Amino acid sequence: MKSLPPKFKNPRARHNFQGRSVSIVAVGSYVPERVLTNADFEQIVNTTDEWITTRTGIKERRIAAKHECTSDLAAKAAARAMERAKITAEEIDLIVLATITPDMPFPSTACMVQEKIGAHRAIAFDIQAACSGFVYGLEVGQQFIMSRSYETALVIGAEKLSSIINWSDRSTCVLFGDGAGAAILRHRPNAQGLLTACLGSDGSRASLLCMPGGGSICPPTHESLASGMHYLRMDGKETFKSAVTAMHKAAREALRRCELDITQIRCIIPHQANRRIIDAVAERLGATTDQVFVNLHKYGNTSAASVAIALDDAVQSGHIQRGDLILLIVFGAGLTWGAAVIEW
Ligand code: ACO
Repeated sequence: MKSLPPKFKNPRARHNFQGRSVSIVAVGSYVPERVLTNADFEQIVNTTDEWITTRTGIKERRIAAKHECTSDLAAKAAARAMERAKITAEEIDLIVLATITPDMPFPSTACMVQEKIGAHRAIAFDIQAACSGFVYGLEVGQQFIMSRSYETALVIGAEKLSSIINWSDRSTCVLFGDGAGAAILRHRPNAQGLLTACLGSDGSRASLLCMPGGGSICPPTHESLASGMHYLRMDGKETFKSAVTAMHKAAREALRRCELDITQIRCIIPHQANRRIIDAVAERLGATTDQVFVNLHKYGNTSAASVAIALDDAVQSGHIQRGDLILLIVFGAGLTWGAAVIEW
């Protein structure tokens, strides 16, 4: 195993080192079977493969079957992660599930997953930080293990975004897909694991990206349904600009805290929303193309699942080896954002 870069003088990073380190011991993901290509969208709305590809980088996305709900996708991703970690469901103490498309408003989708995988000893709850949810979840899981409250955490990002998309709004419907990714967190002797997570939120810009109906502000009525309040809405241009700025800043701060240079990062896994956002962030960070992992052409934007699925893809395809330093960068509704540095 490669040794860590020296000198982690920042108090926060040092805390992780001198306290109890927390590692991702295994990851897993699941995407539904049905593929919806850009050509398919040409039959649904007034769009073209050329527009979608050049503006976003997306070529296709996965769409869950009618009977498949978010917890089904999550449970399958979790089962793969548990198998790779060689642990049974009974060993899981904590399930943290990030989603904006829960099975239902309550109880939590995490509890649904607990039942589906048979993790009867675990406590389970959802968190909601939109596309940033998986990195928020890693931080929550890490804190519980560092504090010795729990030994083994299952952190999941899972979405059935096809259930909240307005299929007649071409400016949003082509962007999103369904899927789930999961990570098993534990203390791993002689490994540093999660070095730091820099998170941020800005509620003053909540209206940029939201689903206005269905909650306490606008409970579901015939009128709210007729006016499409239960669909995802986005100011794409403003979201784009905010994403580039926030992701760049969070990544810089995470590197600064760990006293790392971008050249020391083996693999950067950004939120998979738009190829142009990813390229702009990478350029500002001074990263090379081969440092940046991209799979959005296959899955589109899967919100909380995006970085989790990409991480699994990167590990299974050999882009990441044990000991490598990796950088996760996320951005989503809230607004929320974050960056995490991990010694894999
Ligand atoms: N096909 C063809 N034309 C389209 C489509 C489409 N699917 N969608 C929009 N257009 C048109 C628009 O109507 C507009 O036409 P007009 O100039 O005649 O009005 C034109 O294309 C340009 O539209 P813009 O919105 O300016 O296109 P832009 O280049 O900004 O790209 C996009 C839009 C892809 C949505 C981009 O703004 C984006 O990716 N934003 C960020 C999304 C994001 O990162 N979200 C992250 C968080 S997601 C979460 O938290 C759930």
